[in-house]
Amino acid sequence: MNLINGKEVAAKVKNDVRGDAEYLSDCFGVKPGLAVILVGDDPASAVYVKNKTKDCAEVGFESFEHILPASTTQEELMALVKQLNADKKVHGILCQLPLPKHLNEREIINAIDPKKDVDAFHPENVGRIMIGDYDFLPCTPAGVMELIHSAGISVSGKKCTVIGRSNIVGKPMAMLLLHENGTVTVCHSKTRNLAEECKDADILVAAVGRAKLITADMVKEGAVVIDVGMNRDENGKLCGDVDFESVKDKAGFITPVPGGVGPMTRAMLMKNTLTAYKKAFGIR
Ligand code: GUN
Repeated sequence: MNLINGKEVAAKVKNDVRGDAEYLSDCFGVKPGLAVILVGDDPASAVYVKNKTKDCAEVGFESFEHILPASTTQEELMALVKQLNADKKVHGILCQLPLPKHLNEREIINAIDPKKDVDAFHPENVGRIMIGDYDFLPCTPAGVMELIHSAGISVSGKKCTVIGRSNIVGKPMAMLLLHENGTVTVCHSKTRNLAEECKDADILVAAVGRAKLITADMVKEGAVVIDVGMNRDENGKLCGDVDFESVKDKAGFITPVPGGVGPMTRAMLMKNTLTAYKKAFGIR
């Protein structure tokens, strides 16, 4: 078994971003800026937002936190997005999801300037990913591809199984694997025989949000196993969608939780913000 160390790969990505940001900030007289919006008091979301601010400081970006109460109205949130769209110091905008139930998530996402949409959730960016002509990739699937590349694994011709079909991870993940010529199967809650689909996979990406769902009997000997899950086990300990202890001896490559995909998602957000900044100044 080879462990794919997400912390190490993420540190490398952030290091490259920091170097570019430092140089370009001197050239243009302004740092890359990321605005993060958090509505309400979901504790997990609060941690994610704090980490994003920390990452920005680490790579030399300006960060703008907008922490709003759960009672925020759709109109107030829309007004903030419009203000950030027009702000020259803001190159990337991220609205932390999920939003409180009374807010219309889709309308907010659609209001973000696609050029500042560092999540790549806007329909324009989603569409561009479909046709393979994009500036941004959603952070988690992009991070997974970086991890696969970092381990020297080629996707071309391989059987890839993605478990989960969310707009944030599963669907774009399948598309990125397809772009690299994988033969892709997407599984979900209605899939008839999940174990069989998984067992066929040379590359297995689990993104369902069910603790330790993937056990050793569902994994092909030597497979690449990427765990996007972020769950709590019966003892309240952080764990993935993969039963790491049993799968690690069967997999050829495996990512741990924590320390696998999570740090990569954060690193790719920094990379996307740098891309948005560069594009704002007309460079690639
Ligand atoms: N909530 C969980 N993951 C994400 C993400 O990647 N982006 C945003 N905006 N919210 C999230």
